[in-house]
Amino acid sequence: MKRVYRKRSYPLDGIRRFLEPGPIVLVSSAWQGSFNIMTMGWHMMLGFSPALFGCYIWEENHSYHMLRRSKECVINLPTLDLVDTVVGIGNCHGADVDKFQRFGLTPKRATKVAAPLIAECYANFECRLRDTRMIRTYGLFIWEVVKAHVAMSPKRPQTIHYRGEGEFMISGGTINRRRKFRPENL
Ligand SMILES: Cc1cc2nc3c(=O)[nH]c(=O)nc-3n(C[C@H](O)[C@H](O)[C@H](O)COP(=O)(O)O)c2cc1C
Repeated sequence: MKRVYRKRSYPLDGIRRFLEPGPIVLVSSAWQGSFNIMTMGWHMMLGFSPALFGCYIWEENHSYHMLRRSKECVINLPTLDLVDTVVGIGNCHGADVDKFQRFGLTPKRATKVAAPLIAECYANFECRLRDTRMIRTYGLFIWEVVKAHVAMSPKRPQTIHYRGEGEFMISGGTINRRRKFRPENL
């Protein structure tokens, strides 16, 4: 049995705490009654408020077409316990398989978008497509995060960060330099 986190609503201007370190995420989508999931490493924060998030999606992915059509997604944050699921999801295409069923994941209804939340992930960020102008040239989707759900504990989840060649870095120790920061850069 995979772990299911208890979550609460989270302020949108604070979600960079989870996404700025560049963890692997799972992108869930919905289109014409079917759900899909893809693994994604190429992404970045683009703004606090509105909370903007950019990512690269390859046009050969089934998700690319579902996302362009539905204009919505959920960015889900998996933890170390899901590493094999993350690789498995990235190794198959939603046109051939129902990935929720194959990987034993639970879709939960989102509040603002049709794409499902993945219950087994530490956090879920509901997104609407904000800007399509760079999709055709760069595969770059720009999203506005419209609702965030984050687990109550642990405070610092063990997220996984892809290094290429099959290798993942696991989030670990923390050092704090708050006193050396200019306030606007914190
Ligand atoms: C660790 C990892 C990171 C990945 N990062 C990306 C990414 O940033 N963008 C992308 O388009 N595909 C990425 N992929 C590939 C997709 O997850 C993969 O092509 C997947 O099968 C797409 O599923 P779909 O066809 O059902 O959409 C990644 C795969 C893995 C395993």
